[in-house]
Amino acid sequence: MRRPLVAGNWKMHGTRASVAELINGLRQQVLPAGVEVAVFPSCLHVVQVLDGLADKGVAIGAQNCAVDPAQGALTGEVAASQLQDAGCALVLVGHSERRLLLGETDVEVTRKFAAAQSCGLTPLLCVGETLVQREAGKTLEVVGAQLASVIEALGIEAFARAVVAYEPVWAIGSGLTASPEQAQLVHAAIRAQLAAQSAEVACAVRVLYGGSVKAANAAELFGMPDIDGGLVGGASLNADEFGAICRAAGS
Ligand code: 13P
Repeated sequence: MRRPLVAGNWKMHGTRASVAELINGLRQQVLPAGVEVAVFPSCLHVVQVLDGLADKGVAIGAQNCAVDPAQGALTGEVAASQLQDAGCALVLVGHSERRLLLGETDVEVTRKFAAAQSCGLTPLLCVGETLVQREAGKTLEVVGAQLASVIEALGIEAFARAVVAYEPVWAIGSGLTASPEQAQLVHAAIRAQLAAQSAEVACAVRVLYGGSVKAANAAELFGMPDIDGGLVGGASLNADEFGAICRAAGS
């Protein structure tokens, strides 16, 4: 049985004051025991959130790491080893905003995935198609290729210590959510691709859905057999809404 995971990606949002308010709001949420909860603040606020939520059982992750795990001369980057030292447990890799707006390639995504694991962090690998790709009938091909590049470089066993998130780009921040059936189809394909190499790894890995998840649609999405929780953007900036999404994963 896979333990659901609900993760909040705060993206490039927050000030010290608004983060303090969000921590306070999250502290007041009743979080279901059977659900793992994680938040990904901006790098600047990671320590503040670690301090604020240390005793709440919420894991903290970073939104990115450098391709090399060790510290070094690389201005502006943060190493996975530094994130681990700060207390992070997870790191997002391959978010579509980084792939599409910052030109991050599959090769870089794979190196970041490996860097995270080499420091004991769990990589949360994001995959997903654009609207143009979906309309061209290429969804499974695009998602399959993003996943394959990591499997081929690092081997299937790398997914024994990782999480995958399917985030259709057209559903991110748009208010358009993939229907539970649309999402399930892609989640099942992701799991089948992993199962082709290891049924055990495929059965254990959590595949999250991301893209306009809200309290109102979470239960329906999380009810699908291959959807093991959510990667939540905008709605994770509201503690009550995020708490309700976490509770939906526990029901
Ligand atoms: P929204 O929930 O705002 O659509 O963002 C999803 C996302 O990109 C999470 O990583």
